[in-house]
Amino acid sequence: MDANAMINEFSSRFERRPEHIFFCPGRVNLIGEHIDYNGGKVMPCAISLGTYLAISKNKDKLLRFHSLNFPETIELHLQESYSKTGKTWFNYPLGMINELLQEGNMISGLDMLFNGNLPIGAGLSSSASIEVLTAFALNQLFGMKISNKDIALMGKKVENEFIGVNSGIMDQFAVVMGKKNKAILLDCDTLEYEYLPFETGEYILVIINSNKQRRLADSKYNDRFAECGRVLKALKKKLNVTHLCDIDLNTFEEHRHLIDDPVLDKRALHVISENFRVGEAKDALKANDLASFGKLMYASHQSLKDWYEVSGKELDTIVEFCKTYEDCIGARMTGAGFGGCAIALVKKNKFDDFFSKLTSYYEEKIGYKPDVFASETGDGVKELKTTPVT
Ligand code: GLA
Repeated sequence: MDANAMINEFSSRFERRPEHIFFCPGRVNLIGEHIDYNGGKVMPCAISLGTYLAISKNKDKLLRFHSLNFPETIELHLQESYSKTGKTWFNYPLGMINELLQEGNMISGLDMLFNGNLPIGAGLSSSASIEVLTAFALNQLFGMKISNKDIALMGKKVENEFIGVNSGIMDQFAVVMGKKNKAILLDCDTLEYEYLPFETGEYILVIINSNKQRRLADSKYNDRFAECGRVLKALKKKLNVTHLCDIDLNTFEEHRHLIDDPVLDKRALHVISENFRVGEAKDALKANDLASFGKLMYASHQSLKDWYEVSGKELDTIVEFCKTYEDCIGARMTGAGFGGCAIALVKKNKFDDFFSKLTSYYEEKIGYKPDVFASETGDGVKELKTTPVT
C-alpha cells in the first residue's frame, strides 16, 4: 500500500480525493522490556511497516471512520466528548480525538480511511501507531501546534485513561521519533533521548510473529504494573527512590530482604537487571559490537521468561530455536509479550534457510506456522506526498 493506493481507496468510498495522507510506523523494542513504566531506559526503533490514514474534512458534522483491516464504517455525530465503546479498533483514534477535544481544540466533521500493514495486536505497537497517526493528522489539519513529544504523551494518556491499560511511554515515543537505521535510547523518567547507530552489517533484523492470540494480555499487563508498584512500596521503606529503575543491582541486593513475596522478588530482579542490560547494550552498539548486543538480547529474554513471566511456550520455542542456529546471534520477545512477536539478528545470506528451518521446528512443536519476515527500521510519523490531480 502506498499514498496513491490510499487515494484510490478513499475516493471509491467517499467519492472525492482525500486532502492529506499520513503514515505512522510500528516499532520493535531492541531491549529494555517492561521497564518504561518503571522509569527505566528502553531502546526501540520504528519499523517500515505501519498505518496509513487518508483524511478530509466534511461539512456533515460527522466523524466517519473506515478501516480496510476491519472492513466497517462507523459514523458518529460531532460531540464535545466521547467514551470507549466496546473493544473495537476505532477506540484508539476516538480516544485521541476525545483527548484533543478535552484540551480545548476545535475540529470539524472528518472522513477517515485507515489501513495498516502491521500485524494487529502482535506486539509491534499497532495501537500506538493509529493513536499517534490520528493526533498528528488532526494537529496538521486544524493547526493545533501540538509538539510531537506532547502527541506521544497524549497517546500514553489515552492508553491509560480511555483504553484502560497502564502502559508506559515507549511505544508512542518510538513511533513519533523513529529514524531510519537508528535505535532510540529513551530515558522514560526524564524523556531525554539519543539516537544510537543501528547498523547491522552482514546481519538483518528478523521479526517472528508467533501468531499466538494475546488473550487477556491487557489484564496481565496491568497485573505486572501493579506488582511493580508493590515492590517499589516495599523498597521505599529504606530507599529514597521514585522509580524501581532508580535502584542499581548492588543496592537491590542489599535491600532485597524488604520484599517478602518470592513472586515480587522475581519481578524486581527482571526490572533492575533489564535496566542494567540496556546500559550494556548501548555500549555494545556504540562499539559496533553486535555479538555482545545479541548475547544481551538472549539474556533479556531469559529474564522475561523466568522472572517477569510474560513470555510463553510459543515465544520460548522461537528463541530456543534461535539459540541452536549458528547464524543467529541474538533473539528475544519484543513488546508486552504473552504472545506476539520475537526479534532475531540473523545473517543476511542465511535468511531463507533460517525461515524454513524455524517454520518447520515451530509448526512441529506448536501446531501452526509463525510468520517470519526481514524488517527494516524506518522514520517516525509523517505526511506523505501525493501526486496532484492533473
Ligand atoms: C507494551 C506497552 C509499553 C511497554 C511494553 C513492554 O508495548 O505499551 O509501554 O511497557 O509493552 O516493554
